Amino acid sequence: MTTIQAPRTPAVTRRRGVNWEKWGWIYMRASGVLLVVLIFGHLFVNLWVGDGIKAIDFAFVGGKLSDPFWKVWDTLLLWLALIHGANGMRTLVNDYATKRLTNGILKWALLLATVILIVLGTLVIYTFDPCPAGADPSLVASFCPVAN
Ligand code: HEM
Repeated sequence: MTTIQAPRTPAVTRRRGVNWEKWGWIYMRASGVLLVVLIFGHLFVNLWVGDGIKAIDFAFVGGKLSDPFWKVWDTLLLWLALIHGANGMRTLVNDYATKRLTNGILKWALLLATVILIVLGTLVIYTFDPCPAGADPSLVASFCPVAN
């Protein structure tokens, strides 16, 4: 027979220490709210404003990644979405991967992929050179010394 617990019965009987599962649950909601703003702001500026999607090229990206405002925006988008996606996938793995070994392998793979992507993405945002030496002057942002 299946026993249905009363609402608000704690899922974990161990009560001491930080309840990480609860904070993970809260993180999904809080980051979800911020992601709505960050994702739609990102799509609006990149695809709608001005010439829209036709304006996207190397110079467009170089221009955005030279502006501290967009650096912070993109960093928040990168970190919040990746941690949100990884934590969501962790929930799915816990729901469906019932074998201990499979469960462990999938979650370590998730962690590894997330850490690599966050490090690489953050490096791109903060080390991107919008005016690379020897670049075609017609392709770089207008503020580059070689631009025409
Ligand atoms: C508009 C922005 C977004 C909002 C408002 C949002 C909101 C949420 C919420 C509230 C949950 C928890 C659902 C639950 O516990 O039942 C969730 C789960 C999840 N989210 Fe997002 N999310 C957004 C964007 C994203 C993005 C960009 C990704 C991928 C990087 C993503 C991947 C996931 C995954 C994999 C889950 C777990 C799915 C599941 O439990 O069935 N979400 N999302």
